[in-house]
Amino acid sequence: MAPLHVPPGPSGYPLIGNLIPFLRNPLALFTQCARDYGDVVRLRFPGMEVYSLHHPDLTAYVLRGEPRYFIKDQLTRRLSNLLGQGLVTSEGDFWRQQRRLAQPAFQPSHLHHYGTVMTAYTDRMLHDWQDGQRRDLHQDMMHLTLEIAAKTFFDSDIATDANDIRTALEAVMTYDMGLSNWLFPDRWVPTPAAFRFRRAVRTLDQIIYRIIHQHRLSTHPSADLLSRLLAARNDDDSQMTDQQLRDEVMTLLLAGHETTALTLSYCCYLLAQHPKAEQALAAEWAQVLDGRTPTAADVPRLPYTTWVVRESMRLYPPAWGIGREAIQDCVIDGYHVPKGTQLYLNQWVVHRDPRWFDEPKAFKPERWENDSVKRLPHGVYFPFGDGPRICIGNHFAMMEAVLVLATVGQRYRMTLVSDRPLALVPSVTLRPKHGVQVVVHKRPWKEHERIGTEAA
Ligand code: HEM
Repeated sequence: MAPLHVPPGPSGYPLIGNLIPFLRNPLALFTQCARDYGDVVRLRFPGMEVYSLHHPDLTAYVLRGEPRYFIKDQLTRRLSNLLGQGLVTSEGDFWRQQRRLAQPAFQPSHLHHYGTVMTAYTDRMLHDWQDGQRRDLHQDMMHLTLEIAAKTFFDSDIATDANDIRTALEAVMTYDMGLSNWLFPDRWVPTPAAFRFRRAVRTLDQIIYRIIHQHRLSTHPSADLLSRLLAARNDDDSQMTDQQLRDEVMTLLLAGHETTALTLSYCCYLLAQHPKAEQALAAEWAQVLDGRTPTAADVPRLPYTTWVVRESMRLYPPAWGIGREAIQDCVIDGYHVPKGTQLYLNQWVVHRDPRWFDEPKAFKPERWENDSVKRLPHGVYFPFGDGPRICIGNHFAMMEAVLVLATVGQRYRMTLVSDRPLALVPSVTLRPKHGVQVVVHKRPWKEHERIGTEAA
């Protein structure tokens, strides 16, 4: 049968197409489109045609089956103004070479060492917490994962760089991942946000180049990720240039801290609403850890904690959709996809589809029992993407989420300040609009007091 020409979709307005409902509430728009029009839905935005895909086979086809037909989508490519030719934004042979160089540094066996940093920094954060205190947990997690990133990525002393990095990253993320990027993709349109963006990039560049320079001069090789990237060699013995290192470090900072912070924030939000799951977790920690700080070696012995993290990423995927652009005409699900079409692989929709998950909106960590994640067909559950461009930091992130959750959760449980549902801001990442406001309650376990004293 000849391919049908255009998939169904909402009609929209002349010129702006479906922009207004998208800007108003993209999650609601995609959910409604999947319900009303099916697995391939056409949406129109100024200057671009988007096909949103809602079936695992189609996701798997784009990410794994024929990745050579597709490159990153326009919005992701715009990030190259910040990330240069880092792993997220590069393509083709250059990407393949960089991925080969970087991959060994992310092997699970190399990551164990970072577990100690993760729990030590969590301990340090907990020093400021007090029983009965109200906190914005999302802010706490953003600070924590950035500190962990700075230490594990380039051994940066938090006191000196973290504040500057934090302020600059906030400015670039607000700009790059927000509305401005849609409306003013050209950085040289002189808006105040564009000015803040450029200043922030300069600050980050200064810090990162200084750190690269210090690492090159250092005679004591350290175990951080930058040192591993510095030592990595191509087949012809060449190494990454300073510019390549800068792009990869910037990419890791951006890709690797907010996503994990979001995962932890949503885990805590869900646990505060599900006391049974929270009790099951506490029981696991009591049995396996008995009050001591967890280590990377404990992670496989904390299955329930891992299920909670997986289930939280199913319901609230931090990267809630993945974009690609077709670089040649192709056919998807019987529809002709012209070259240049933007494809949107929609975690938010697929992860909540009753065809693949029973009671899809319910928080049920037990659904991940017996390693069921490995038996799911490709494209059903893809918080880290899939195929050759799957998240290089997935083991790092899982380890960090489990260790931080177990370290915090052994000492504090949380209640939500409000029982209103979370307002979500779906930019490049899925953010809680007003943070995650909780009251923290110290657990009355002797062992935890002991840990607190040791870390002090
Ligand atoms: C829960 C936390 C995380 C989530 C949900 C997440 C999600 C993702 C997703 C969905 C992709 C694929 C994007 C695509 O195919 O277009 C990706 C790629 C990537 N992620 Fe993560 N990520 C997380 C943590 C991390 C961490 C901790 C790091 C670094 C230490 C990292 C570094 C990267 C890099 C470099 C890429 C690009 C890989 C490539 O194209 O070769 N991510 N991530």
